[in-house]
Amino acid sequence: MDPIIKADSVVYPTLQVPDLEVQEKFLIHFGMHVVEKTADILYMRGEGPQPFIHVTRRGDQKFIGAAYAALSMADLEKISKSDSFGDIEEMTSPGGGFRSSAVDPNGIGVDVVFGIEPRETESDLMPIEVNVGGIGEENFRRINQTKRFQKGAYPRIKRFGHYGINVLDVPASRDWYHAHLGIIASDILKPPPADDDCPIVGIFARLDRGAKPADHHCVFWLPAEELSNGKPGLNHVSYEMVNIDDVFMGHEVLKRKGYQAEWGVGRHYQGSQIFDYWRSPFMQIHEHQTDGDVFDNTMPPQIVDVSADGDPEVPEMVSSQWGTGISETFGDERGL
Ligand SMILES: [Fe+2]
Repeated sequence: MDPIIKADSVVYPTLQVPDLEVQEKFLIHFGMHVVEKTADILYMRGEGPQPFIHVTRRGDQKFIGAAYAALSMADLEKISKSDSFGDIEEMTSPGGGFRSSAVDPNGIGVDVVFGIEPRETESDLMPIEVNVGGIGEENFRRINQTKRFQKGAYPRIKRFGHYGINVLDVPASRDWYHAHLGIIASDILKPPPADDDCPIVGIFARLDRGAKPADHHCVFWLPAEELSNGKPGLNHVSYEMVNIDDVFMGHEVLKRKGYQAEWGVGRHYQGSQIFDYWRSPFMQIHEHQTDGDVFDNTMPPQIVDVSADGDPEVPEMVSSQWGTGISETFGDERGL
């Protein structure tokens, strides 16, 4: 069945924590800037044109959900008329715009938005050119130009990249997100021998942007039963950095500030990103990443044997190609 719409991007997550002051401080160290803050809500931005890329409400800790951008007002109207989504509301957040909201089968919120005005920014967010080495003249990309960073500077974030959620039923979640937002599977994880009889233990999925490339995953569904005592909620939120320097600089800053490292730095297998995961003071996992794969909609879903990727001597789920192995606490109940 055709999806109701095909969402164009994933734009921000909304988290809920009891103390916005503490959250603000962490997010500044993580690389964000305050846009607007009241007693009840905190909007943070990165370096890019989006007016905000992270929202926190004040309250008991939980993951409220994520917002996807529709391609047009007509698409927003279309989805608002579906059974799962509500009427279109005018947004009061920075940049304005319009929103229709739903709750997925896990009780996690999904907003579809349109018309959020970008903020003015002169930064093109292009990293300083990389010298790739070798002998061809075309390889010398940075000539008579040094590479300099401010020691101890906060890392620079381009945008919200993706999020992972622990769900009640992985295939059912895929079906819901496909039916409503057109999201398609990139990697389907199975235990060995990863044949038709094996259960699905996780799916990385991306936006269907037709011939335009999309990140390998905008959302990642994992089983709550194995990870978080059956309770659905946040696995992690992930931010794309300006480049690899920002991933490593971020690691240094967050370590020095005394935050809890969760997993990284390393290079993912599924999606290929260089990644680094940190716990916020409320234990919700926030990721820095760069250099991920992008696919258009011609790339078929891959069945991935979770024990076959990475090091065959040390089988692990969602492994890294280099860097530290996945932490045993990744996606646990504390971070929901
Ligand atoms: Fe991630």
